[in-house]
Parts: sequence; structure tokens; C-alpha cells
Amino acid sequence: MHVNDHDRYDLLVVGSANADLVVGVERRPAAGETVLGSDLAVHPGGKGGNQAVAAARLGARTALLARVGDDAHGRLLLESQKEAGVETAGILVGGAPTGVALITVDPSGDNSIVVSPGANARLTPQDIRAAGPLFAAARVVSVQLEIPLETVAEVAAAMAADTRLVLNPSPPAPLPDHVLAACDPLVVNEHEARYMLGDDAGSTPEEWARALLGLGPQSVVVTLGAAGALVADGRTGEVVTVPSLRVEAVDTTGAGDAFTAALAWRLGLGEELAQAAAFAVRVGAAAVTRQGAQASFPTAHEVPAP
Ligand code: RIB
Repeated sequence: MHVNDHDRYDLLVVGSANADLVVGVERRPAAGETVLGSDLAVHPGGKGGNQAVAAARLGARTALLARVGDDAHGRLLLESQKEAGVETAGILVGGAPTGVALITVDPSGDNSIVVSPGANARLTPQDIRAAGPLFAAARVVSVQLEIPLETVAEVAAAMAADTRLVLNPSPPAPLPDHVLAACDPLVVNEHEARYMLGDDAGSTPEEWARALLGLGPQSVVVTLGAAGALVADGRTGEVVTVPSLRVEAVDTTGAGDAFTAALAWRLGLGEELAQAAAFAVRVGAAAVTRQGAQASFPTAHEVPAP
């Protein structure tokens, strides 16, 4: 892989790329139950792929480091990245079938997701080491946990001194101390915060944020869905609540990825955490008003005004 020295990426996303197989349901089935749903829709998704498309669509110079299978789903995902303007030289092909996410969406727009990682599970530490030029060229690196933990650990180790790491621990898993210490910020929703804190979680987002800072990250962002987000900076001790907009949710799939991508991009441009989060909640709000993950992400012109 070759990246010219003068090429600087606003954002390098390292993560998963999935084909999202989506069915609308009146309600989710209980164990042992069958329900009928809508026609099947196949959308490009995956938390890494989603973040890359979201950032590029907003105007960020973005690269994706991921692995897809040599199959029709993999081609769909590559096409979606290219169409959004993402640099795809870091998308590796082969080793296993493309990852798949089985998604049900209920009438309130909430979803349930099961991911079969496929090729995502074959994105190795060696793949990270081989992508040195991409890391050297990135202002911000964003990573999630739909790829192997040892690969995430290698990402934290591969960071250039002047590059910022944004990590969304989704789906949540125990993280090594050196990974936590590199996060600036760690971006969690309520579920992920409670997982990481266990019995010490506390009961308010501010308590979660302060307790999460105690685990080592430089800063923390707690996403609160329709209630916006809360940011906590370990350097200043400042905790700020960022309200969201009132929108009609159709499908929340990928909204968190759009939020994190927008946040990461704006941090790389030099914005303060609260300012970047205020922009990101508007991007997330726009993303829930349309179906699908990548298909729902706004351009800069489509981001609602504050
Ligand atoms: O965050 C939403 C994403 O989670 C979906 O696109 C799906 O692929 C799963 O990775």
C-alpha cells in the first residue's frame, strides 16, 4: 500500500464491513417463537464501513482499513465506500466470506443485530502493521470492536505521536490498559458504559463518564440517544451535556456510527470535545430519519441546523 507523504487523511477508520440483511418486524420474536416480517433489504453496513462513509459524506478525507470476502457482498461494500469517496486501498479482500449482520427493525425504529464476523475476524495485527503509511497519514484513527481484540490492540500500538485515537467499544469487550489509555475519547452508549463499569456503574450518565475516566482514557463521550450526549475531559475534569434535536426516528441503525465519525472528524479539525459532539449529535439525529445505515447518513448540507 502506498500513501503519498503530502496526503493527510482527516480520518482513518479501522473496523468491520458487513452486509446488513434487514427485516422490519412488528415486534421481535421471543425464544422459540416465529414472527413474519417485511421483505428483506440488503444494505452496506458494519461499524467501520459505516463510520468511513459517514465521514466522507460530510466532506472528510477518509480511508478505511477493513477486510471483506471475495464475493457479492464484498463488492457491494467496496462500491458503497467508493461512491462516498472513501480511500479503499486499505480494504483487503479474501480469507473468508464477507461479514453479515442480521438486523430486525421495529416500528419505533429500534433494532436488534446479530453479526457473523466472517472476513472481519481475519483482519489481523499483521494487516495493521502492513498499513503503516495509512497510520502515518491520519490525523485521527477510529476503531470499534467488530474486529479481533488483538488487532485493536495493534491499532493502539501503531498510532503516530500526533494522531488521536477514537474508540467505540461496540460490541463491548474487556480492553487492555494500553488501549484504554490511548482513547481520546472513548465513545460509549449506556449499554457499553454499564458493561465496562459492571457493579460500579453509578446511575447517571455523569457518574458513568467520571467512572469511565477512572479506567484510563483521556476523555469520554456517552451517547444518550434522543437525549443527546455527555462529554467528559480527563485533562480539565469538565463534564458537559450536549442536547439533541427532536426528530422522528425511522431506523436508528448506524446512527451511533455516524455520530462517532462526525465527532472524530471534527476533533481532527481542532474542535473542542463539546463543540465536536454538538455537531455529531445533529449528524446522528439526521441519520435516524431515514432507513438503513450508510444510506441514511447526511451530507454536510443535510445536517440540521442547531
Ligand atoms: O452500528 C450498526 C452496524 O452494526 C450495522 O451496520 C451492522 O453491520 C452492525 O455492524
